[in-house]
Parts: sequence; structure tokens; C-alpha cells
Amino acid sequence: MDLSSVGLLVIGGLIIVAFVIGTLGILAYGFLFFFSNRLREKHWQNRRRILESLNPGEAPLDRFMVGYFHPYANAGAGGERVLWAAVRDIQRRYPEVIHVVYTGDQGIIKDEVLKKVQARFNIVLEPSSIAFVHLQKRYLVEESRYPRFTLIGQSLGSIFVGYEALSNVVPNLFFDTMGYAFTYPLVYLLCGCKIAAYVHYPTISSDMLAKVQDGTPRFTTDTTERRSWLWRFAKLGYYHIFAAIYGYCGRFADVVMANSTWTKGHVDQIWGTEATIVYPSCDTDHLNTLPLKARENYILSVAQFRPEKDHSLQLRSLHKLFQDHPSLAKGPNAVRLVMLGSSRNQGDEDRIARLRNESQELGLTDNVIFAINAPFADLVSWLGRAKIGLHTMWNEHFGIGVVEYMAAAMIPVAHNSGGPKLDIVTEYNHQKTGFLAEDPQSFADAIYKVLTMPDDEYLAIANNARAAASDKFSEVEFCDGLLACLGRILTS
Ligand SMILES: *[C@@H]1O[C@H](CO)[C@@H](O)[C@H](O)[C@H]1NC(C)=O
Ligand SMILES: *[C@@H]1O[C@H](CO)[C@@H](O)[C@H](O)[C@H]1NC(C)=O
Repeated sequence: MDLSSVGLLVIGGLIIVAFVIGTLGILAYGFLFFFSNRLREKHWQNRRRILESLNPGEAPLDRFMVGYFHPYANAGAGGERVLWAAVRDIQRRYPEVIHVVYTGDQGIIKDEVLKKVQARFNIVLEPSSIAFVHLQKRYLVEESRYPRFTLIGQSLGSIFVGYEALSNVVPNLFFDTMGYAFTYPLVYLLCGCKIAAYVHYPTISSDMLAKVQDGTPRFTTDTTERRSWLWRFAKLGYYHIFAAIYGYCGRFADVVMANSTWTKGHVDQIWGTEATIVYPSCDTDHLNTLPLKARENYILSVAQFRPEKDHSLQLRSLHKLFQDHPSLAKGPNAVRLVMLGSSRNQGDEDRIARLRNESQELGLTDNVIFAINAPFADLVSWLGRAKIGLHTMWNEHFGIGVVEYMAAAMIPVAHNSGGPKLDIVTEYNHQKTGFLAEDPQSFADAIYKVLTMPDDEYLAIANNARAAASDKFSEVEFCDGLLACLGRILTS
């Protein structure tokens, strides 16, 4: 082959590549043009429809609209509390803003939803600026629909649901409060509106990648995970590609908020963003009235009997404590551990039986109280009596139970990892709010310290813990954090 034919071949190749890229580009452009035109054509008509439904008569059609993408808005869990708290806080500061909630709940009536929000979360909303858009295609993001390739299935599904939302009305700010990052490029390219995200939980985390990498199954019951290295390799590839696309999509967000340090860490790593932590508010008011003084030598552990809660570590720590300080185990002021939690199924029953067995073997029967499926009144009564709130789960992402211990004016002794370490049992006003530990010895030492410290020291720490719980995780703090992030967009 001489030089000129090589040249021809190269040029021919380049032309073909250019042609393919060009065609794809034109197709993509045409596609975007077509769909964004469709949105544009109906833009004012859609806005008029929404505004008329709120306030018949004249209303300037260019009112600032926040669209909350929250397909499960009627669910009543922690994520919904954040959604409604955000609506309320924006309503208070910017009364002229219109709130459009994109939800897949069919046949819900606005007044009923708002009533439920008030009853469930104690959040009072102004109905006249809230409109619902009902999404017909929510089934596309339902997890059960995708027994395999759930991540990709749900994510692609969310793009269609996102388009359905936009075709109902295009907001000025698209606020994703459920973590559907795959909708962002679409929202940006089709309508160019601002995008804000409040992330509770990353769709894929670097933990997940690491687990596949070293072969630890993500769910121990999943037998497919134990397949050959080829399977693992393919799965790893799938996760990595997914993470790359997820990260690409996430970068379209103008404002990123995360609900905890753990979530921020993963989001920042995968999206390459600088997320702001805005803690959701925890409703701890009812605990703030519990007495601070006259606490007894009880150690309270409130947790479901799930394996990761590591109740056994609590027993071993108590055993260690009594080994080091035998006098604490006996007498009228004997130290007792109360394990309070619900038993939901046979698995829980079995674990509880094993714990009873273990406590017997460690000689702790007189010092451990099992409060299984105790009524709420009992829980509150223990929260008001015990000195110490015990938490032993390794790497819990947050740990609302620990916040509740603190709000109830107990001193927490929590696992030195995850949320308790990063977010909760941290210094407040330059003072301690509790203790962290990781093995029976350090737990026993921390417990001993709390049980034997002078009263004024106990009161100072418990008081500070209570203040930290109600300040850091309060509604005011959430509101300030949220508006600091969104203010620039809302006033533009
Ligand atoms: C953040 O969201 C996740 C998922 O819903 C939840 O498990 C975690 O407790 C939340 N963190 C806080 C601080 O509420
Ligand atoms: C505890 O369980 C072990 C076996 O797991 C058994 O050998 C032992 O007798 C049990 N102890 C008690 C006190 O029931």
C-alpha cells in the first residue's frame, strides 16, 4: 500500500466518522428542538391553567414558580416532611411564589393532603399558592417494576416522568426533593430552568462500588451475588458506568443540598459538587419537657432488633463494666440496661432469644430488662428516667435515635462512626454533648464515666446535649439553611 492510498483511507475514515457524529448531533438537536418547542407552545396556556385553578381572574402569568418533583408526595415519611417544610419556609419568606407539587398520587384532594400534613408533621401551609400536578406515569419509577437492572430502570423511568411533569407546566425552579438526578439534563436542555436538589440518599454510593469490588454482597440474601468473578466484573462495570452517568447528570444542578455529612460525602464524590448540609428538622419538642434531674442508673437502648444494631455489643460492654466495677452490678442502685424495641417477625424473635441467652451466659439476667413492643407511654417514661442513651450500630448514616436521647436530656454513649460521630455527638458551644466508643472496653469506660460523674457535670453535659439536639436539628436551622441555598434563585 503506498502513501497516497493510506491517506485516502484515513480521509475516508474521517469523513465517515464525521458523518456519523453529524447525524447523531442533528438527530439529538432535532429531538431537543421538537420537545422544547412543544413545551414552549403550551407554556403560557399551562401557566394560566395552574394559576386560574388557584386564583380565578387576573394573575400575572410570570409569577415565580417552584416545581417540586416528588412523585410520592402523599407518603408521610421523613422525605415528605422535608418537602412540606421547604414549601412552608419558602411561603413565609416569599409569599408571591407559586408552589407546584408534581406527584404521582392519583385522586388526592389538596385540602385533604394539607390537612394530613398538618396532623402528621405539624406543618401549616397556605393553600392559595400550592397546586398539584398529577403524574400518570409514576409506575415507571416503581422499584417492583424492575426486578433486574433496577437502578437503570428506575432512572430511565424517571426521565419520562420528568418530561410528563414539565409538559404540565414548566417552573422557574425545578426542585428535586426525591433524588431523581437523571431528570436534570432533560430539565436543563429542554427548558433551561434552574435546578435544585435535596438529596437524602445517593442513588449509588461509593460504598456500593467498594462492596462489589471486594466481593461483599450488597444484600446477603441475594444468591446471584455469589456467582463467578465474571459476574462480579460485569456488575462492577455496570455500577461504574451507572455512577459515571449519575455523576454527569448531577452536575446539572445549580444548588445541591444533602441531609447529612454521609450523604454529602457520597454526593460530592460522585457528582463532583460542593453540597451544603441542611439537616432535616427532627420533631423533638415533646421530649424537651422531660425532667433533667433525678435520673436513675438506667442505660436505655432504643433500637429495632436488627442485626446491624449490634445489641450483643451492648451486653458485652455491660459485662465489661461489671468486671471492672463489680459493685455497680448489685444493690438498690444497681445499673440496669433496658433494651427497648419492637419485634416484627420471626427473625427478630430469634435474635431476641439469642440475646436473652447471651445475657444469661454473661451473668447479666438481673441487670438487663427486655422491653419488647413496649407501648409509647413506656418509651417516654424510660426516656425520662434513664441517665444514658446507648447506641452501638457501626456506621449508621444518621441515627435519629441518638438525637432523641439528647433531646430527652440523657447523655448519649454512641458508636464512634457514621452520623453519631460526624453529625450528632459533636461538640456544641465548645462543650461535650456525649461520648463515643467502639468496643466493650471503651463503651464500659464511657458508661462508667457518666454514671459516676458529679451531678453538676452530668447536668452541664445533658443540658448541652439537649440544646444541641434542638438547635442543630430544629425547624429554624432547616429554614435558614434552605433559604441560604435557594435565596439567590428565588429573588432573581
Ligand atoms: C437522610 O436520608 C436517609 C434516607 O432517607 C435517612 O436514612 C437518614 O436518616 C437521613 N438523615 C437525616 C439526617 O435525617
Ligand atoms: C445458649 O445457646 C447455646 C447454643 O447456642 C446453648 O448451648 C446454651 O445452653 C444456651 N444457654 C442458655 C443459658 O440457654
